[in-house]
Amino acid sequence: MITVKENVLNVDEFNSLYDAVGWGAYEREVSLKALQNTFYSVSIYDGDSIIGYGRLIGDGICFLYIHDVMVLPEYQSQKIGTMIMKNLLQKVSTVQKKNPSLRLYLGASLGKEGFYRKFGFLSREEAGLGSGMIYQGEEKID
Ligand SMILES: CC(C)(COP(=O)(O)OP(=O)(O)OC[C@H]1O[C@@H](n2cnc3c(N)ncnc32)[C@H](O)[C@@H]1OP(=O)(O)O)[C@@H](O)C(=O)NCCC(=O)NCCS
Repeated sequence: MITVKENVLNVDEFNSLYDAVGWGAYEREVSLKALQNTFYSVSIYDGDSIIGYGRLIGDGICFLYIHDVMVLPEYQSQKIGTMIMKNLLQKVSTVQKKNPSLRLYLGASLGKEGFYRKFGFLSREEAGLGSGMIYQGEEKID
């Protein structure tokens, strides 16, 4: 049976999904800190086994970011990603009731844009908001 759990803080599950989707895994203490600092997350299980995960990070009221939406390869194309997104967006809508100006962002991996478009996401350029940018400087930030 497929079940959804909120705010599970399980480094092994998180890292195993990271590995399974080909992203490699962080050091355990890095993953633990990341999970502890997460605003909201959903974990999807088939029985006792983790098959999907997604999380919201941010300040919890003005800016939220969707990150780490991942579905075990053998469970992809079975609407598990949709289940993750619907749960995250449901949480976002509760925050939006407190702050209608809330901005929700995500960074789509190359080739995954079409998945997020199904849930109403546009590129920042399409929304007339300029570019999304990522820091790739090699200078150390002291
Ligand atoms: C991207 C991912 C989360 C999608 O999850 P999923 O469970 O396979 O997706 P779903 O079955 O819920 O698909 C929902 C819809 O999105 C579409 N879709 C899925 N992946 C897509 C893609 N890469 N491009 C375009 N559309 C896509 C599906 O065809 C489906 O369309 P439909 O509603 O018309 O049938 C999953 O493939 C995954 O974990 N990939 C590896 C990790 C990753 O890249 N995550 C995204 C990081 S930004």
